[in-house]
Amino acid sequence: MDYDAEKYDSGAADAQQPARKLIRLIQDYVREKYGREQTTFDSLIIVDLGCGPGNTAEMLANQFPGAKIVGLDIDPEMIDFARTKHPEHKFFVQNIEQPWSEWPEDFRSTYENKVDIIFANYALHWIDNTNSFADTIRQLLRPTGMFTGNLLYCGWLQSEDNSDDKRDEILLNESLDYPREMEFVSKFFWSLRTNGNFHWINMEYQEPVSRFGRQFYTESFIEIPLKWYRKFLKRSMNDQEIGRLNETLKRLILKQRICKVIPANKDDPSSVEQIDLRQQLYIFKAIKN
Ligand SMILES: C[S@@+](CC[C@H](N)C(=O)[O-])C[C@H]1O[C@@H](n2cnc3c(N)ncnc32)[C@H](O)[C@@H]1O
Repeated sequence: MDYDAEKYDSGAADAQQPARKLIRLIQDYVREKYGREQTTFDSLIIVDLGCGPGNTAEMLANQFPGAKIVGLDIDPEMIDFARTKHPEHKFFVQNIEQPWSEWPEDFRSTYENKVDIIFANYALHWIDNTNSFADTIRQLLRPTGMFTGNLLYCGWLQSEDNSDDKRDEILLNESLDYPREMEFVSKFFWSLRTNGNFHWINMEYQEPVSRFGRQFYTESFIEIPLKWYRKFLKRSMNDQEIGRLNETLKRLILKQRICKVIPANKDDPSSVEQIDLRQQLYIFKAIKN
């Protein structure tokens, strides 16, 4: 659908650093809850929301041997890929913002109130209906179960005071109505607090940096933030207008996020120009009563 599962799987190294951070939070929680000595985790059920091609399910399985890992993703191609590559885990096609009452009956009866840990890496920024999502994780978690996930803010695109940038700013203002950072983050937090009914929520901020080949990022991965901005189109636009908007967004995204450029090594024909990109991530940890 929106991502190419194989391409994402091979390029997903940038997702690993934030995923490791979430896994460390789970390790602390498990250690505290079940004791230090634990080496197998047969009784644990871990649900990976927006699991993509199964890359994070594999990381979870490596850290918690024996745990039952259940991955959910809206994209059937991702789920096909994950099932083929990781047949030892369970994967389901599922929209995670769909109201809980509309989830398949057999899934609800199997997992309602039974899940120990819910994990979501690089997936929560796609959720519009945060209330429904928060309600779902409450339904899934068993008492004292843990939710941890990171929320990516794709970024406020600031223009500078020159005529090119002013034109961009007018185009963006006319075309898009995307949320400011605090609006975006507080909406998510408030849903956890109210619909999720969590009484203990921890939030941290982090700016992880990922390195990409410039060409690979600008021709492929940049489609991900572009798609995020396009969710907030103010009006329908023709292909030409979308093309112009995309070009402007690409330019501003790169300007805002690139924190370092590593030139190709002239003596090595296989070497390519690389860029370090900074992301803005809010990390949540919440425990159900
Ligand atoms: C950037 S990928 C992250 C994959 C994996 N979690 C990782 O860390 O590498 C985001 C995933 O979220 C999925 N996704 C987006 N919206 C979703 C929704 N409403 N319900 C379920 N999955 C969704 C996409 O299909 C995609 O596979």
